[in-house]
Formats: sequence, C-alpha cells, structure tokens
Amino acid sequence: MQFPEYRPRRLRKNANFRRLIRETRLSVDDIIYPLFVVPGKNVKKPIASMPDNFQMSADNIVKEAKKARELNIPGILLFGIPARKDEQGTQAFAKDGIIQQTVRMVKNEVPDILVITDVCLCEYMSHGHCGIVEKGGVDNDTTLEVLAETAVAQARAGADMVAPSAMMDGQVGAIREALDESGFADIPVMSYSAKYSSSFYGPFRDAAESAPQFGDRKTYQMDYANGDEALREITLDVSEGADIIMVKPALAYLDIICRVRQEFDLPLAAYNVSGEYAMIKAAANLGWLDEEKAMLESLTAIKRAGADIIITYFAPQAAALYQQQENRL
Ligand code: PBG
Repeated sequence: MQFPEYRPRRLRKNANFRRLIRETRLSVDDIIYPLFVVPGKNVKKPIASMPDNFQMSADNIVKEAKKARELNIPGILLFGIPARKDEQGTQAFAKDGIIQQTVRMVKNEVPDILVITDVCLCEYMSHGHCGIVEKGGVDNDTTLEVLAETAVAQARAGADMVAPSAMMDGQVGAIREALDESGFADIPVMSYSAKYSSSFYGPFRDAAESAPQFGDRKTYQMDYANGDEALREITLDVSEGADIIMVKPALAYLDIICRVRQEFDLPLAAYNVSGEYAMIKAAANLGWLDEEKAMLESLTAIKRAGADIIITYFAPQAAALYQQQENRL
C-alpha cells in the first residue's frame, strides 16, 4: 500500500465514513461498576479523591444497584469496609459480615443484576495487608484458607461471582475447591490474575480504608517492570480454574492486556483503577481536559487493547452516555 494510491484520509472525511470503518465499539454490556459498602443506615459519604463515588450503607447500595440496573449495567463489584477490623480478617467471612448482609439485600431487591464480590482481606485487617501476617510477613498458605472461607461465605449469601484480588499464590485453586465442596460448582471465579503493585490504587485505599499500616504490597503484588511474569501468573490461574482473567491496572498496562489477549482465549477483564479515574476527574475539574472525551478515549483504548470487560468507576456516566447515543440512532 502506497501513497498516492492509498489515501487514508478518504475514509475519515465525515462522521458517517468514520462510523463505517470504526474498529472498536464500547458497549454497556462490557461494564462492571465497583461500589464501597460501609456500616450504618442512610450513609452516603463522598470520597474526596474519587468525585461522584461514595461510601454507602447497604440501603443506599441497593438504590445504586437499582440505578445501575436501569442503566442496563450487567454487574456491580462490592467492596466492604467493616465496623471492626482485626488481625484475622474475621469480618470478611462472618455470616453477618458487611458484604454478606449487603449481598443478601441487593439480591433480594435487585435480583437481575450480577453481584460480584471482592475476595481480599486488606479491608478487614487492622494492619491493612491482604493476608494473615506472621513473623512480619504475609503468610501465603494460611491466607488461602481464609480467602476460601470468605468466598464460600459470599456465595452462601448469594454472590453471583467471586473476584479474588489478594495475589496469594494458589488462591484461585483454593477458592475453586472450597466452592465446589460447598455446593457452589456453578459460581464462577473472576481472578485478578496479573495485579501490579501500583501507585494508581491510592484513591481506592482512601475509599476502602485499606492502606497497609506498615511496609507495602510488593511481596505479593507484581513488579510493574515485568511483562512475561504476567503470562506466567495467568497460566497458573487458568490451570487452577479461573473463569475470567484480569489485568490491573489498565491504562499503564495496555501492553499487558494486548499480550494476554494474544496468548489466552478466556474472557479478559481490565480494571480501570481509582487513580486512573481520579486523574481524569482532577484534570477536568481544573478545566485542563474534557472529561467526557478523555473518559471515552480511555475506555475505548482498554477495549482496543483486547479487554472484553472493563471494571470502571465511570460505569454510570459511561452507561448514561451510551444510552443517549443509542437513542439518537
Ligand atoms: C485489594 C484491592 C485494591 C484494589 C482493588 N482490590 C487495592 C490494593 O491492592 O491496594 C484497587 C482498585 C482501585 O484502585 O480502583 N482488595
């Protein structure tokens, strides 16, 4: 192909040509909406670093789930902030733990939206680490038992899918086995397979009150300099029974999404994390970026890289926009 025979600009001439040759299309079908549950009633507390997102009590989560359902969003992802944290993460798997209670309420009142639960311990631990701390470090294998128990408690409460994010080795296998043994062979696991140790989680840790009280997460989350290792992590999760694999964060890791897409044929999710959201919101607030355009460009890029599913705090905003666009056609 050569100029002047080939002139790419011919097909960019107007909006209709551009529509015809557009390769990537965003759809509300691809979106998951993360939400933060806190104890109490009628609580709706703004999260400063995540404009338009709130810590909400379960009653308000139900309302938000209804709104998401009306926008045709297929699923919500729940994170819980318990009233009491300890060193065993007991509120993660307690029968009346905050997530278990909230799942029951949402499934009762909004049965036709998927309720996905985060399986991790950082929000439930007084020290803020994602697992059981022993001798100053996070112990992998004792943590597996607690993660498995948490996933089963969530499934018992009615969760439609569990999403382990603790980055313990063997967590997918441990959870799969426990679910199967407890009669939940039909509950899928969406695994945070390649989860990097990232500064872009900053705002989330405010929202989930889960910042580690000592050290960092570098002994369990991945080093951002590594790409091949992501493929090894995903190979492990696939062999342990993951139904959906994930790369997280998304925007600084589009190369990883692209490589994973080429190597694996399982559904692939990408987590457009809190810091990625906050950057656009902050710049838009200052008048430095057009918020809507920057959002659409980012989400499209994540899909173009190869993600099937996008977990994003922009979910309601994006869904409302798609709805408007569809109504116009
Ligand atoms: C851990 C978890 C984190 C996020 C999702 N699950 C934080 C962490 O690893 O510190 C981050 C999500 C985001 O930044 O939006 N339970």
